Amino acid sequence: MSRLSERPEKPVVGLPVPHESAVLHVTGAALYTDDLIHRTKDVLHAYPVQVMKAHGRITALRTGPALAVPGVVRVLTGADVPGVNDAGMKHDEPLFPDEVMFHGHAVAWVLAETLEAARLGAAAVEVDVDEQPSLITLQEAIAAGSLHGARPVMLTGDVDAGFADSAHVFTGELQFSDQEHFYLETHAALAYVDEAEQVFVQSSTQHPSETQEIVAHVLGLHSHEVTVQCLRMGGGFGGKEMQPHGFAAVAALGARLTGRPVRVRLNRTQDLTMSGKRHGFHAEWRIGFDADGRIQALDATLTADGGWSLDLSEPVVARALCHVDNTYWIPNARITGRIARTNKVSNTAFRGFGGPQGMLVIEDIMGRCAPLLGLDPMELRERNFYRQGQATPYGQPVLQPERISAVWRQVKENAGIADRRREIDAFNAAHPNTKRALAITGLKFGISFNLTAFNQGGALVLIYKDGSVLINHGGTEMGQGLHTKMLQVAATTLGIPLHKVRLAPTRTDKVPNTSATAASAGTDLNGAAVKNACEQLRERLQQVAATRLGSNAADVRIVEGVARGLGSDEELAWDDLVRTAYLQRVQLSAAGFYRTEGLHWDAKTFRGSPFKYFAHGAAAAEVEVDGFTGAYRIRRVDIVHDVGDSLSPMIDIGQVEGGFVQGAGWLTLEDLRWDVGDGPSRGRLLTQAASTYKIPSFSEMPAEFNVTLLKNAGEEGAVYGSKAVGEPPLMLAFSVREALRQAAAAFGPSGAGVELASPATPEAVYWAIQAARRGGVSRIGSTPDGSAAEGHARNGHAADGRIRADAAASNGA
Ligand code: MTE
Ligand code: MOS
Repeated sequence: MSRLSERPEKPVVGLPVPHESAVLHVTGAALYTDDLIHRTKDVLHAYPVQVMKAHGRITALRTGPALAVPGVVRVLTGADVPGVNDAGMKHDEPLFPDEVMFHGHAVAWVLAETLEAARLGAAAVEVDVDEQPSLITLQEAIAAGSLHGARPVMLTGDVDAGFADSAHVFTGELQFSDQEHFYLETHAALAYVDEAEQVFVQSSTQHPSETQEIVAHVLGLHSHEVTVQCLRMGGGFGGKEMQPHGFAAVAALGARLTGRPVRVRLNRTQDLTMSGKRHGFHAEWRIGFDADGRIQALDATLTADGGWSLDLSEPVVARALCHVDNTYWIPNARITGRIARTNKVSNTAFRGFGGPQGMLVIEDIMGRCAPLLGLDPMELRERNFYRQGQATPYGQPVLQPERISAVWRQVKENAGIADRRREIDAFNAAHPNTKRALAITGLKFGISFNLTAFNQGGALVLIYKDGSVLINHGGTEMGQGLHTKMLQVAATTLGIPLHKVRLAPTRTDKVPNTSATAASAGTDLNGAAVKNACEQLRERLQQVAATRLGSNAADVRIVEGVARGLGSDEELAWDDLVRTAYLQRVQLSAAGFYRTEGLHWDAKTFRGSPFKYFAHGAAAAEVEVDGFTGAYRIRRVDIVHDVGDSLSPMIDIGQVEGGFVQGAGWLTLEDLRWDVGDGPSRGRLLTQAASTYKIPSFSEMPAEFNVTLLKNAGEEGAVYGSKAVGEPPLMLAFSVREALRQAAAAFGPSGAGVELASPATPEAVYWAIQAARRGGVSRIGSTPDGSAAEGHARNGHAADGRIRADAAASNGA
């Protein structure tokens, strides 16, 4: 066992403890950034001046009328920026733009004594815009050749030879939707300046160090003049990885110019219309299978809807390409990634960070092709699982392929698949207008940031004379339970009870140069850094204890707050030990650091081993679909998920449940609509509120929901043998989509492929049922490879052009 993964005697990690803020969350006592304004004197409120046009040049901006509104103190415009007018890292995201790039783009901010005065002031600002043509849909952007950023190509094997060797070749297209984060807490920042003009920003950010960097460059300051603190977030889900920076910069600029604290907090509609979302994608593919249904070759182009600026679109597309394989070995592949530039918000990170988009492509292919190959979808998936010795299309060996089948086997067992499939067949035979189906999908998700440099973490651990311990680390808390795990790690490494350890809010003046709390790597990076700091302290204390206990330091164990020498009965309590160390002038604070070893990635050749390990899981979902309306219910879901050796089982199960439900929301329910017409509100987000944008609630939960963590799953390469859990479970929701596809297919003749729009709303399922009833896409009568688009069932709603799916063709089948 590695030193990193080995657990000591009676570890605090592994105990099912509640979230460290659970009581504060449920009583409402937990403080979020915007709660601080009630504790802050003389706060000014900032309100954005949003231009309601999709695209246009600003020819005039008149702030005078706003200044006439009582209570308005100042209007911030581009002219006020002392440093760089950019809210991002790529200089393509002006904080105060002179060109409106999307409907609702903020071009100025009004500061006032009250929020209402700021709102009235913003409404009074006059902006003249010279309207320009706009690209709203992904199709429009692709047709216009409007692309930005990198265009990576992932190549492996010999694609042409792979197709030549294939007994069956299918082509298709899929377009799937974006997703709104809908964190409960909208974007928020509160900035102050101190007597030396130093800036302190409270920000709801997953990446305080980058918020700090951007605030500094906007203000023309150095990083040591700006401190960013994040108490906690009311959800981030990737939406606060990059998007908070500009809002923090507005607050900081306002504070700097007025000398007063400035608060920015978006209301829900502002948050929905101004901040980026999960990237929707378009995919075009061609796949070859051998006579047994084994994938021979895949040629695909994935185009992400990047929105107006790049933001994180390049790494999102990179991760999408790195996950097109999911759990399947693809010996020959050519996958191209592109980023469309549209006049919409700048799409960004969202749980899975492109991974779900890449995996959706291959899972859709598997679901569509199985009937065309005459195979059960479960069987087709199993046949293509990675085996020992095989590598991903980007060249990373898949070292634990047995985990893929282990979770799969166990979920089949837990879910009683064999019996239930018989029951479902009997039910379907007896019910012409209601159909049930059960589908299983698995997952393989790479853990670590693709960009190797981000894979580092830091911590600062302080032991006070009274034996109490305070830890700081570079990660942020957004509900995922990172802080809880960090407390458990510190208590475990020091050998003390959990209540002895407290955690201080994340801030950039405690741990510098931190990475975003993202890529699910928060625990791996910060946990190993906390462990490292605690080990330094423990070693010093073992020396002190050794003298008192007449033992060798190497033989001293600290367990549950008591130090003992091996084989000796003498004891030294933690508090006494710490006091002794203090009196001996032993340093009782330590900075910890961790860098993930063994990673390398070449973004140019798109090859390397960017991931420390893979997370795995499998889900079995059963649905029931109504043939008249397409309405459906999720009857039961069983999940077996691999979190390694869990650090905190209750937290991990919560992450699996939450991730799954959020994924099911993306794939079945959540439907962002934009005005794609040519009228005056072209480009407007139509779903601007909870009334029109539906995220899952209790009523959409599976009626029966069983989550199990894979046993005996310790991971050598991570802190105390655990595996990252934050994002991967979202991708277990493919099982729901595949079950819906199979249920729709059950309304038609067997052997027909059914195409399903994403999100698979009841409406989309209804159209899939209609297509299935007409015979779906069948092998018989399909066009020869290459002319696939003709004469085949199309489904989905035409309104937004979000039609997917062309036909399949086959050579020699
Ligand atoms: N869980 C909750 N409750 N709230 C969140 O915002 N974000 C997810 C995931 N789980 C999120 C969450 C995302 S996108 C990531 S990358 C991880 O948590 C980040 O935290 P971790 O690295 O500590 O797992
Ligand atoms: Mo998560 S999308 O990596 O913040």
